[in-house]
Amino acid sequence: MMSRRLAVILAAGKGTRMKSDKNKVLHEFNGVSMVGHVLRAVNACNVERAVTIIGNDAESVKNNLKGQCEFAMQEEQLGTGHAVKQARDLLLNEEGNTLIIFGDTPLFTEDTLNKLFQFHEQENSKGTVLTAIASDPGDYGRIVRDDSGNVVKIVEVKDADPEEIKIREINTGIFIFDNKLLFEALEKVTNDNAQGEYYITDLISILRKEGHAVKGFIMDNFDEAIGVNDRIRLAQVSQLMTQRINRQHMMNGVTIVNPDTTYIEADVSIGQDTIIEPGVVLKGQTRIGKGCFIGAYTEIADSEIADNVAIKHSMLESAKVASGVNIGPYAHLRPGAEIHADVHIGNFVEIKKSIIGPQSKIGHLSYVGDAIIGQNVNIGCDTTFANFDGKYKHKSVVGDNTFIGSGTIIVSPVNIGEKSVIAAGSTITKDVDVESLAIARAQQVNKDRFWNKFNNK
Ligand code: UD1
Ligand code: CA
Repeated sequence: MMSRRLAVILAAGKGTRMKSDKNKVLHEFNGVSMVGHVLRAVNACNVERAVTIIGNDAESVKNNLKGQCEFAMQEEQLGTGHAVKQARDLLLNEEGNTLIIFGDTPLFTEDTLNKLFQFHEQENSKGTVLTAIASDPGDYGRIVRDDSGNVVKIVEVKDADPEEIKIREINTGIFIFDNKLLFEALEKVTNDNAQGEYYITDLISILRKEGHAVKGFIMDNFDEAIGVNDRIRLAQVSQLMTQRINRQHMMNGVTIVNPDTTYIEADVSIGQDTIIEPGVVLKGQTRIGKGCFIGAYTEIADSEIADNVAIKHSMLESAKVASGVNIGPYAHLRPGAEIHADVHIGNFVEIKKSIIGPQSKIGHLSYVGDAIIGQNVNIGCDTTFANFDGKYKHKSVVGDNTFIGSGTIIVSPVNIGEKSVIAAGSTITKDVDVESLAIARAQQVNKDRFWNKFNNK
């Protein structure tokens, strides 16, 4: 039977080895903080109450995890055992099993945590440690077993003797304890060790000595257990998470031409038969539809892309793009760009906070800011919406089917009616009526036989 599941997440330490002004667990990869990745896995496996222990940078950690867990303060960082003890007031009276997990081990999956809970429950264990076999056990705590294979204790490297250092089975930092026993046993932990800290790892030998069933569960995939203590490990977990995310999209029917150079954050969704070329970066809350083509070195953040959209070598931020649109190369869609169906946006076009109506074309070298463009409008090469007067932003509107010639400057605010024509090179400062022509440029003057005069000067 499934027990009541609780969790304590440790995130109070500073993480000196990161060499950072902020708490280690707030460093992000694939769009989510380290401790955020941990909370996602924990909350996905039926945990009813999760308590995160905060200390360093406490307010920032709280903000980062808002709504995902409860918090308990550890004023002084006296060790992992001392940290867990801070959840006492919140959890002491709970019946059930408590998962303990560190905020700096961000790759554990929901699946692994579930398996560990199931193992602990089925074995009627009072304390279970999740272990892994490491090829290079480095600075992880070592798992010491007796001749019959029972876990006896966990030894930190700084406290280990030469024989223990050789052990390759390591402590992943994840435990499950019977909740009542956990808080009883924590009272018995001392700081009599090389670092003068209260270690959570000591609970294993404490419970065992008292005759309680203590178990070790070896996980198959050591990669999940990576603890991030410095920026080299941060890059490593990001790479592994990237592989995991990319693999998931490929399983769902997305073609990723070169997964090694494709960076997709955790919350991005992509429809079937979309093709992602090398060097693509997809961030934040981006949603991409089916049958799209996302060309090389495109970066998209927090944008919504419908089906059958083709984007080449461009950058999109908080933009909305309807189906059948064709963008780039080298276009920049900025926040509030709303592109309706079958629009074409070409090279070196920047669009900000503007609506572009269906079938309109902005082929080359233009800036459209704070404008509403109707349907089937043609905006010629090098058109600028001069939307800023140095102090305020102004809006312009262009009606359906209007043709704007190349090199036009539209000095906002103006209203340009539908089916009108703006002559190339115009500077438009006044409204233009429907179905009319506006020319606003100096008249051309030609002077005959000028060359000699010019050449003899
Ligand atoms: C710990 C384990 C080690 C294990 C490894 C797995 C102990 C004594 N050692 O070592 O056996 O192999 O993790 O990655 O448990 N923290 C607090 N308050 C404190 C101290 C730490 O909240 O007073 C938090 C830290 O913010 C961090 C986590 O606990 O997120 C682990 O602490 P860390 O110092 O990184 O432990 P390790 O030396 O990696
Ligand atoms: Ca660590």
